[in-house]
Order: sequence, then C-alpha cells, then structure tokens
Amino acid sequence: MKNIKPDHVAIIMDGNGRWASNRKKSRRYGHKKGATTAKNIVKIVSTNKIKYLTLYAFSTENWDRPTKEVSLLMSLFIETLENEIDELNSNNVKIRFIGDRENLSKKLQDKMENAEKMTIDNTGLNLFVALAYGARWDILNAIKGIVTRVKENQLDELEIDENTLSNHLQLGNAPDPDLLIRTGGEKRISNFLLWNIAYTELFFCDCLWPEFNEEEFSNALDFYSKRKRRFGSFV
Ligand code: FPP
Repeated sequence: MKNIKPDHVAIIMDGNGRWASNRKKSRRYGHKKGATTAKNIVKIVSTNKIKYLTLYAFSTENWDRPTKEVSLLMSLFIETLENEIDELNSNNVKIRFIGDRENLSKKLQDKMENAEKMTIDNTGLNLFVALAYGARWDILNAIKGIVTRVKENQLDELEIDENTLSNHLQLGNAPDPDLLIRTGGEKRISNFLLWNIAYTELFFCDCLWPEFNEEEFSNALDFYSKRKRRFGSFV
C-alpha cells in the first residue's frame, strides 16, 4: 500500500514553555511564538495540498494550569483568531473547533462561531483546532449523543457500529489522521483523539514547537512516506 502523502495530519504542539525558559523569556513569549509557528504550519500544510490538519491548542487538562497562564492562552486564542481569520478565509481554509466549549468565555465562543460560519463554504484545507478538547470527553459525549438518539427512537440500538460512534465524535466524518506529530520530546498522546488514531503513524520529534518549521515538517512527511501501513492485516 503506497502512501506518499497523508490526507490528515494531527499535531500536538508541545514545548512553548521550555523554548521560552531556555531564552530566559516569559511563557507568554513562548506561546506567542508558538502561535506564529501554528500560522506558518497552516500555510505549509495548505501549500502541500494536505486536506486536513488538526492542531491540539488546549486540552481539558490544561484548565489545571495556573489561572494566569490559562487566561493568557485564552487571550492569545482570541487575538490570533481576530488577526488571522481574514487571511485564512481568503486562503480558502475551512476552520472548525473541536472540544467542550462550555467553559470558554462568551467572547471566545462568539469568535469561534463567527470563524466557522465565515469559512463554512471554503473548499481548501480543513483546519480543526482542538480547544478545551480531551479524547475521553469526546468519546463520552458521543456515547451520550447516541443514547439520546436511541431513546428518541431515531436510532435502533442494534444498528450501532464503529461508524455510529465515529460520526458522533468531534471530527465527525473527517478521515482519521494518517500522521500524528508531537514536538517537544515527550512520547505520549495526552488524551488527544484516542479513537481516531487507532492506526495513525506516530512521529515524535525533540524540537520544541516554536522552532518547528518546514524542514521538520518535511522530515515528518519523509518518515510517513516510508511507513508500510497494514491496518492490522497482512499486505
Ligand atoms: C504546549 O507548550 C502548548 C500549549 C499548551 C498551548 C498551545 C498553543 C499554541 C501553540 C499557540 C496558539 C495556537 C493556535 C492554534 C492559535 P507547553 O506550555 O506545554 O510547553 P512546555 O511543555 O515546554 O512547558
């Protein structure tokens, strides 16, 4: 099975804090640089004609960070959306957010909704931003949705299969990620897309997110192009 290029790349953007502290700078500085890297990677992925990109921006567990850091990240998300949405839109990017929006500020929720509405008809890169996202929450939320549909007689419980669950997850009918990249040196998944990455190729790199660039991305694509994907069968 030949797989030259992935259709869907997912990224755990780790290492902003360490990158900043290596330079004796504030964590805010690291996250700001991280946002610039995210912007550059969206461009690179889009230019490479990859159809789906999912970025892990804030996990359910990130709520446990100090209040000051959480609020600076929230203002950074608002600021980035305000500054970037027009360019994303003109580059034909369709943006969607995945995660539990309930605890996000009204202002941020409005910006997210506005960005989704504005780009809904775009046909270029499908960009998913995971904000207040956790895969265990995602699976639980999908199960609750399925139970409600069964109770309301919209779904026969005997018909529930893997596709039913997949379609109720936040990524809906988007294809599963082919390649997952994690920067920052840790080799773990941290509650990201657990159901969807059952057969995803995993690429871990030591470089910290703010220094992730076209060359590192191209290393990840090279790694991917050499994988033999068998999806559990013998090919
Ligand atoms: C991990 O670095 C990064 C985050 C928790 C936040 C990710 C946010 C961005 C990259 C910026 C904005 C992105 C978008 C899509 C607008 P860390 O703080 O865990 O780093 P550390 O492990 O070195 O402390």
